[in-house]
Amino acid sequence: MQKDTVTIINNRTNEKFEYPILDGTVGPSVVDISTFYQDTGMFTFDRGYTSTASCRSKITYIDGGKGQLMYRGYDISYLAKNRTFLDTAYLLLNKTLPSKEELEDFSIEMKKRSFIRESMKKLFDAFPDNAHPMAILSASVSALSTFYFEHLDIDKPNEYMEMAKRIIAKMPTIAAFAHRYSQGLPIIYPDLGRGFTENFLYMLRGYPHRHIDLKPIEIKALDTIFTLHADHEQNASTTTVRNVGSTHAHPYAAISAGIGALWGRAHGGANESVIRQLEMIGSVDRVDEFIKRAKDKDDPFRLMGFGHRVYKNFDPRAKILKEIRDKLMEEGIGVNSELVKVANKIEKIALSDEYFISRKLYPNVDFHSGLILQALKIPKEMFAVIFVIGRTPGWVAQWIELQEQPTIKIARPRQLYVGPVDRTPKDD
Ligand code: SDX
Repeated sequence: MQKDTVTIINNRTNEKFEYPILDGTVGPSVVDISTFYQDTGMFTFDRGYTSTASCRSKITYIDGGKGQLMYRGYDISYLAKNRTFLDTAYLLLNKTLPSKEELEDFSIEMKKRSFIRESMKKLFDAFPDNAHPMAILSASVSALSTFYFEHLDIDKPNEYMEMAKRIIAKMPTIAAFAHRYSQGLPIIYPDLGRGFTENFLYMLRGYPHRHIDLKPIEIKALDTIFTLHADHEQNASTTTVRNVGSTHAHPYAAISAGIGALWGRAHGGANESVIRQLEMIGSVDRVDEFIKRAKDKDDPFRLMGFGHRVYKNFDPRAKILKEIRDKLMEEGIGVNSELVKVANKIEKIALSDEYFISRKLYPNVDFHSGLILQALKIPKEMFAVIFVIGRTPGWVAQWIELQEQPTIKIARPRQLYVGPVDRTPKDD
């Protein structure tokens, strides 16, 4: 049967080229243009890859129009409401949700790997006070590989799960240690009697030799934030992880690079920028001035926490986080401070203003997660770090999926060269 194709006509040369249409299980089909350069002598051009699919994947599906997000076929609202972050991490890595026993075993596996080598503390010591924890995190994940080099043989697929568990299990410990060091506080080691998310909060807030009780609603709020951030298709940091993985670099190097990409304020750094921006605006009386600036094409100011490359409807994660914000508020966590009043006014205006509606700029995951983390009294420098802890299982699952391809093509795009030519001095 004739394959469905797209025909491209080059009207400079009147040549016609046909490219096959490939269909997925759901979502937009793709046109396979792998031979386009070989056929035409030209490259395609797609700034920011707005219309480009970089890979086949079975992990996460997003329908930006419907505001839908699924991990391995499970809707995010089901996972956020009925499962834990460890369930979700297990699902991303193993392609199925764990049974009760499998989850218990996975939790023990995580606890066993939650410690880091004592000598890693020398690395933390090297950073100045108030070093941004994202810098410490990226350096520490790369440094982890020096302690486990016997497990770095990426030609042995059975090593992948070991690397995955180590990185996922150690990320909260490194994150908490980074925070404690940057504040000059004594580090708190993992408590094997606590679950994954509770343990992170404990390492962040605890005191040596003193038991602290953490509120279940706070643990659930943070666990849900981790679940909502666990993966998100081929976003900028996941693309970075895959690009590094395509050179056959091990996952510690790939995830260290992914942390760097996530740090940018247009990406995972947005949750910290949301709070900084709300603090800068300062009062509800100044909101109109900044809405005006956000709409001014000549002003680089943008509303942090609004807009998304894929979601042209609401971000489903933002909807779930808004519910969590309201629940915390009912419990008196995250009092209705001036900052929250500013956020509520911005959201109200943005949802009714033509500029935002016509560009489909809705509050995204970072708008509400920033406010929740603020309510949980987590320092804003740690917001992107929280995003990293959540996203790590997704990054590792995407790295493994890449390695499991029959052949790996190294990521190597081309360019439209617009620079100078013929400047080399001619021999006299
Ligand atoms: C994340 O990709 C992912 O999946 C990412 C993520 C994940 O889970 O991995 O979902 C996490 O990164 C969420 C996004 C967090 N970033 C922010 O909140 C930063 C603020 N948002 C913008 O920087 C922007 O909306 C982006 C980066 C999120 C999306 O940028 P796009 O898709 O490239 O959109 P664009 O820059 O082409 O903007 C389209 C129009 C432009 O106006 P016009 O030129 O058409 O007149 O919308 C305007 C933009 O000026 N616009 C904004 C705006 N975002 C876009 N105007 C004011 N404020 C904003 N926030």
